[in-house]
Amino acid sequence: MALRKRLRAPRQPRPARRLPQALIIGVRKCGTRALLEMLYLHPMVQKASGEVHFFDRDENYALGLEWYRSKMPLSFKGQITIEKSPSYFVTPEVPERVRAMNSSVRLLLIVREPVTRAISDYTQLRSRATPSAPAQPLAPGHPLPDAAKPFEHLAISPDGSINMAYRPIAISLYHAYLHRWLEVFPREQILVVNGDLLIEDPVPQLRRIEKFLGLEHKIGRKNFYFNETKGFYCLRNDTTDKCLRETKGRKHPRVDPAVVTKLRKFFIQHNQRFYDLVGEDLGWPE
Ligand code: A3P
Repeated sequence: MALRKRLRAPRQPRPARRLPQALIIGVRKCGTRALLEMLYLHPMVQKASGEVHFFDRDENYALGLEWYRSKMPLSFKGQITIEKSPSYFVTPEVPERVRAMNSSVRLLLIVREPVTRAISDYTQLRSRATPSAPAQPLAPGHPLPDAAKPFEHLAISPDGSINMAYRPIAISLYHAYLHRWLEVFPREQILVVNGDLLIEDPVPQLRRIEKFLGLEHKIGRKNFYFNETKGFYCLRNDTTDKCLRETKGRKHPRVDPAVVTKLRKFFIQHNQRFYDLVGEDLGWPE
């Protein structure tokens, strides 16, 4: 018996579903999917495949942490599980709920130049609305649905002021949401990722993130190749070779340059408030 015990094979590490140790909290249309897929190239990273929306949807949150855990991938001890749901960033209840799960969770916030982000958001809303556009022409006097209107008409009110109530503009006011996170988490627990730089040259950004997550540096140039047709980097490692779907990297509609200039001017003071909060100037055009 004693001999049999000694000869028994060493115990294999068993994978388990673990709550995330890192979250991509937003911002939508800033490259949240690209960031998650790029981090997943790392052998010590596991990702939740869809957006779980645990912390921002009351009906999911009510199901409890065991429900959330059941949505997580299998991981080995030492691996990091990451989940992303971009609406976490803008939902007021989320920071406190995340803290209640794990006060030392690592938070990744990816941002882009706010006017580009707003146009990207508009492009997505418009493309989603197109398939369900009314089959019949609208009756005379019937207002056009928002998604069918030009961006310029939605972002600028008839009196010429910026329409801050328009969601794609409101979400680009990053400081308005970030301050709530900073009331709950220390600044060092949030890494701000520049989404425009991630598009141009992902490796240096990923190196910063690996460091932030306490991971060995593994993601390098070998993991990316530029796809001329798509106009973006695609990803590869021993098991994957893929570009992001066509919903990522859409062509944006042309926006009147005077409107872009007006919006950029409007965002100067808001961007400054964001820089002050994060302690870093992201150099967005004025
Ligand atoms: P656009 O479609 O406006 O270009 P999210 O995943 O948060 O919705 O962000 C979508 C954005 O990710 C895209 O916005 C695109 O610019 C950006 N992105 C960053 N890296 C990318 C990549 N390698 N392939 C495709 N899109 C990428």
